[in-house]
Amino acid sequence: MKKQSISSIQKAKGVQKLTMITAYDALFARLFDGEVDFILVGDSLNMSFGGKPDTLSVTMDQMIYHTQAVCNGAQNTFVICDMPFGTYSDMNSAFLNAKRVYQETNADAVKIEGGIEKAHIIKHLTDNSIAVVGHIGLMPQNYRSEGGYKVKGKDEENIQQLINDAQSIEHAGAFLLVVEGVKSEAAKAISEVVSIPIIGIGAGVDTDGQVLVWSDMFGFFEEFKPKFVRQYLDGANMIKKSLKQYKNDVVNKDFPSDKEEY
Ligand code: KIV
Repeated sequence: MKKQSISSIQKAKGVQKLTMITAYDALFARLFDGEVDFILVGDSLNMSFGGKPDTLSVTMDQMIYHTQAVCNGAQNTFVICDMPFGTYSDMNSAFLNAKRVYQETNADAVKIEGGIEKAHIIKHLTDNSIAVVGHIGLMPQNYRSEGGYKVKGKDEENIQQLINDAQSIEHAGAFLLVVEGVKSEAAKAISEVVSIPIIGIGAGVDTDGQVLVWSDMFGFFEEFKPKFVRQYLDGANMIKKSLKQYKNDVVNKDFPSDKEEY
């Protein structure tokens, strides 16, 4: 698969569904490279890899380190780096932090959570040649302020709010929008009113593409399984079974064999 560009992404809307997966290191990024349209270095790494209860405490330095690793592994895929909580609360800090992503990694774009209230920040970044992906609906960085993960788009008023958010993000210059944890009819309505592609997660089938967190979809993250996740592999159990086998082989002196020694 050829690496996507901003213009090929724009042209995909209504023509071909887009696929995004997260990755946090070079090993898995290499496995995913060329197989999907986008790799997202999500701040979800703070939970699945950092073992933290939410995404809020990941730092800019950590995101840079993981994005460098992903870019080393995935040289043929469009890579997006999540901007951590608190790193884009004003235009100046947003630009300085996004500039670090561009100067210290090979990421193609940054992702920012927020609606109308973040439009001026997105505009400042896009005016300064940073490609931006928006993220609205259920925003994991609001986990503590909202007291949990709250599904959005449950009534007409909120659907209209989401539409306004999406339109303001598009006008601010974002080229792609992640819509997370919203009722399917809300995601459909958003997809219909904006001309940039909408990537859904827990947002139903009527979006322009889907994103999943790799450790969820391959069954490695056992803490909880959101309703929207389809599990394509029983990863955790496969690892546990193989590890038991390894231990048995060592204990029974079956490993290493003479073929596995110098
Ligand atoms: O951090 C992340 O992995 C994300 C996805 C859930 C879209 O933002």
